[in-house]
Parts: sequence; C-alpha cells; structure tokens
Amino acid sequence: MMYPPEVIGEVLALNDIVEVISRYVDLKKSGGSVKGLCPFHNEKTPSLSVSADKQVYHCFGCGAGGNVITFVMQIENYDFAEALKWLADRARYTLPQAADVEASRRRLAEKERIAELNKLAARFYYENLKSGSALAKTAERFLDMRGVSQAMRLKFGLGLATSAWDGLHGHLTKLGYQPDIIARAGLISANKTGSWHDRFRERIIFPILDINGSVIGFGGRILDAGEPKYLNSPETPLFEKGRNLYGASFARKAKSKHIIIVEGYMDVISVCQAGFANVVGVLGTALTENHARLLKKMNCESAVLLMDSDEAGTKAALRAIPPLTDGGLAVRVAQTADAKDPDEFIKKHGGEAFAAMLRDSQSHVTFRISLLQKKYDIADTEQRVAFTKEASEILAQQGGAIETDAYAKEISDFTGISPEAIMTEVRQKKDAQTRTLADRPHLRRAKGGGDEKGLLDARKTILSLMAGSPAIAAAVAESKSLSPNEMGGGVCAEILRHTFENVSGKPLETADVISRFETVEEQSQAAEIMRRDMPFENAAATEKGVNEMIRVIKRAHLNKLLAGDLEIKAANALLGEIIKLDKLHIKINLSGG
Ligand code: CTP
Ligand code: MN
Repeated sequence: MMYPPEVIGEVLALNDIVEVISRYVDLKKSGGSVKGLCPFHNEKTPSLSVSADKQVYHCFGCGAGGNVITFVMQIENYDFAEALKWLADRARYTLPQAADVEASRRRLAEKERIAELNKLAARFYYENLKSGSALAKTAERFLDMRGVSQAMRLKFGLGLATSAWDGLHGHLTKLGYQPDIIARAGLISANKTGSWHDRFRERIIFPILDINGSVIGFGGRILDAGEPKYLNSPETPLFEKGRNLYGASFARKAKSKHIIIVEGYMDVISVCQAGFANVVGVLGTALTENHARLLKKMNCESAVLLMDSDEAGTKAALRAIPPLTDGGLAVRVAQTADAKDPDEFIKKHGGEAFAAMLRDSQSHVTFRISLLQKKYDIADTEQRVAFTKEASEILAQQGGAIETDAYAKEISDFTGISPEAIMTEVRQKKDAQTRTLADRPHLRRAKGGGDEKGLLDARKTILSLMAGSPAIAAAVAESKSLSPNEMGGGVCAEILRHTFENVSGKPLETADVISRFETVEEQSQAAEIMRRDMPFENAAATEKGVNEMIRVIKRAHLNKLLAGDLEIKAANALLGEIIKLDKLHIKINLSGG
C-alpha cells in the first residue's frame, strides 16, 4: 500500500535518526555532527556521519546514506513498507487503514482537479479579453480608462467573463469535466431547476494566485455601475480568503523585507505598475494571523497598512494592527489623504509622491495617537488634558522605555504639556495596571510571560485530551469558553478548530490531524501533541485539570491583549474578564452517559 506523504512525514518526525541509529552503532559527538563506525562495511576509524539537523546519515567510507527509513531498510534488509511499519511501531504510531489513505488521496486529487480547472478557466477568461468581441472592446476600454498597462494586464493575467450563462461551463464540459467538480471549484452554480450557469458573467476577471503561483480563485469586477461591484470565488478546498493575499506570488518574487498592504485588486495593480512590486491586497476580508504568517513565510519583517482614506479604511487599519504585530511584523500606517485609495492617489500624484507617502507613514502607535487627536480640541484646556490622559494610557500599554520617551515628547510638542508631566502620568498608569495585577499573583505570572512553558503545555495537553475524547471536546465546544484565537496561532489553533469540527463521536485520527499541516516542523508539532499520554487519573481530576488549563490559556491570552494598544474602556473590560476567569467552570460528563 502507498502511504500519503503526510503519513511518511509523520513517521519521519516521530523517529529521530540519531536515536534510531544509536540502537545499532555507538555514536559519538564530533564537532557539529555525530560519528560512528559504519555498520555497512568493515572499518576501524568512524566514517559514518549522522546529522540531527538534517535527519540524514552518510558514510564517507562506503557511500551509504539516506534518511531514517533508508537506514532501517538497509540494516534490517526491509522494503520501504516494512521499514515504515517498523518505525511506526517503534513510535507507537498507528499507520492509517487503507480507507483513510483512500480518503486523503481523494481529497488531494480533488484539490488537484480544482487547480487544473482554475488554470483552464484563467486561460479561458484571458482569451475572452483578447477576442476582439464587442464586450472585450468595452472591457479593454475600461482598463485603458483605468490606466492599466498591457504589461500589468499580462502579469496579473486579467481576463473577461462574457455575458453568456453557459460560457465557461460549456467550455469545461466540452473538455470532459463533470459539472459537480466545476461547481466545487466555485466556477458554476445550479439554479432552482437544476441547470448550471457560470458564476462570473460580464466581469473583468482577476485571477487569484497562491504564493506558489497556482490559480486558486477569481475576483470579478463589474464593467459598469451595478451591484455587487466585485464578486469573488466562494471558499473552495483550494481557496481560503483568510489565508491568501492578492498578488502574494508576485510580491514574494520582489524579495523585499517590507510589504505594502492595500485593500483592492486595482490598488495592487496600480501600486505594482508604479514600480512597487512588494504589494498585496486583502481579499475583501479582515486581516488575520494567518495572513501575518503568510507574510512571514515570504520573509517580510515590516508592513505598511495602506487602507482607503475613508472611515471604513481607518477602522480596517486599526483592526489589522493586532494580528500583524502579534505575527511579529513591525507595522506602520499610511493614509492617502486627498485620494480615496492608493490607485486614485497614484493617478493623481504619481509614483514619487507615493514613495514619499510611504516614507511619511506613521508607526502604529503614532497612528493611534493621531486618531485620538482628531477627537479633541487642543485649544481647549480641559480637552487638552483629557487628550493627554488618554494618550498616556496608550503609551502605558507600550513596552519599551525609549519608545515611551519618544512618544511622550511628541505628545508634548503637540499639547504644550511638559514631557516630564506626561511621563509621570504614563508611569502612574503603568503602576496602576501592575497593581491591579499584583493583587492576583497568578495574573502577574502570566503577564510577565515567565510561564511560557506552562502555557504551551496547557495548550498541548488540552488539545490532546480533546482530540482523544469526544466528550471533553464536546463539553469545551459547547461551553464556548475556548476559541482558536486564544491558542497562540499555528498548530495549536488549527488542531482546536479540528476538534471543534469533529462531530463523528470518535477520537480524531492522528494521521488526519497531521495531514492538515504542510511542513515537517508543523507535522512534528502536531504529532507531538497527538502522542501525549493521558495526564489525569480519573474523571474528577480530568474535569478539574481541563478547567485549570482553560483558565491558564485564557488568562495568558487576555493578558497579552491587555499589553497591546487599547482604549481605556477596552482595557477595563479585559481586566473584568480576567477576574471572572476564577468562576469559570465547565462540567464534563466522562461516564459515557
Ligand atoms: N470588495 C469585495 N466585494 C465587494 C466590494 C469590494 O470583495 N462587493 C473588495 C475587493 O477586493 C475590492 C476591495 O474590496 O478590490 C475594495 O473595494 P472598493 O473600495 O469598493 O472598490 P475599489 O477597489 O476602489 O474599486 P475600483 O477601484 O475597481 O473601482
Ligand atoms: Mn479604487
């Protein structure tokens, strides 16, 4: 039986090559690697080198080499499947049954079909735009009017959906595809009478690519006035808005540590055309930690948020700051002042003014303080004081002393209140925060972040319990007391989602959980969680433990929020929630009734 790559990845992750080889060979540390006498030929001086980093071995004497599976195949004289089984047994890991392997292969095959269909659809739309038909001419005129160069039309693969109800549907079925898979790709839908029609009609088509450049979905803009202005592909097995950014594959090639984040398709294209290839667009959704992770994957270190200059854009920028800073990106905010959006700004003022605007972007703290300024009339003494107090509150939530000092000077310049007075106010506010926390030693512990290991352990343990026990998973899900965004992102958040989605009444399958992740690193983290032992002796201890773990996790999350940029009211609300945690109690019915 052929196993899917994720199963093989997990068996690899569970079997450290140094440990396995040590069973056969006396290994000694030597410099950066580990060395021993090669078991595959006769020798007196060690020439077998094992790398714990790369999880490979190599013999300089006889040339033998490979990964841990290869080693077991060689030394035990096993074939691949036997070696895999041997290693799986060693790690007490159950290889999936044929049916599971079949299901995951089907899922993978469906994704591949959808990718294929998307590629064909993108080409179909592209040809439509080039067809010279009356509608194609209208579309080309629209793009001319919007100033989109031919080079950008080509680079972004812009296309056209015609007015036909059966255009793409007809094209793809003629190529031999069944309607149900085309529908699962989000390209057609059925009406009430059960007949199929194209999803996109009379729209300029913007293919959406993942960071590797595969077409995963489409955005379609109406050619004239009408609603909705933009129509996107629905979520499909391939297309998740929350995990993708428009233009990411091109931005990645720009190899910049800085990324410009805009709202619209046309904005991405305009900014790119103006010479800034390091730009991505959010796909009509909120920015999430997954987006931040995607940007980190692209090696970005800092982001400039360039949202529309209206109130909705300002709010979107405010909301986008926490997931990005949490994701480890330095965040700045720029605004397009007298232009509605970046596209309009570039049309109006050109690329150099755009570069200047990026240079003038504000740190996210300054951005928040300047928004605050707009609410107050600084000429009025009372309001000036109120503003300074509220701004000090923002500073009190910031970590660094140098930053605090710099911002205090800024506020001083603006209000005429001395920096010393502002610093005193900030210090008092900081003290007040610590005092509230000092009343409760466990809060102080979480606030200081000194208990990172305990937190991680709580997250992993509760996940392994929930994955292994549908009763615990159901109790936690129903209590609505724990949410994926409290799990610190990454593997933990994803597995929590997985346990919530599991309504089978059976424990989660290890292979299934691991197959949700792409990298060996994530897979091995998931594997580690899934192979944890049950830490509690009986039902009562389990219930108590689960509640304590939820409290630890929530407390850390709330404290983290509390440490960020916050309005006073929001900070107080958070403190209230932290205090309420002591009362949290979830009942778990483990008797099976
Ligand atoms: N959007 C969407 N669905 C809508 C409206 C907008 O998904 N019904 C998303 C699209 O990604 C769009 C972005 O939000 O590009 C910004 O929308 P909006 O500001 O309304 O349009 P513009 O980008 O300014 O549109 P254009 O420049 O094409 O006129
Ligand atoms: Mn626009």
